[in-house]
Amino acid sequence: MPKLIVVNRAGEESTVEAADGLTVMEAIRDNGFDELLALCGGCCSCATCHVHVDPAFKDRLPAMSEDEDDLLESSDFRNADSRLSCQLPFTADLDGLKVTIAQED
Ligand code: FES
Repeated sequence: MPKLIVVNRAGEESTVEAADGLTVMEAIRDNGFDELLALCGGCCSCATCHVHVDPAFKDRLPAMSEDEDDLLESSDFRNADSRLSCQLPFTADLDGLKVTIAQED
């Protein structure tokens, strides 16, 4: 199974394994990171699944939709590496992806 490296808000890094076919949000949530609220369950309407993605993987991620862009705009913690993790399918191609859970707005 592909590995995902998750950095929590305290800066602690953990490596988790996630089944192909989950989103990055589901992979994080299913591995017990309760600080990623993902309140809307992945419908791209809450922005509580905000993460910062390792720039090295940027080219392998799907393009950002207008809805995702608009939601991220509401965050004070948006930067060039911001994505909503529910909008990122976690595929084998992303093995070793590192994401940092964004600070809470
Ligand atoms: S879980 Fe709500 S926008 Fe991602």
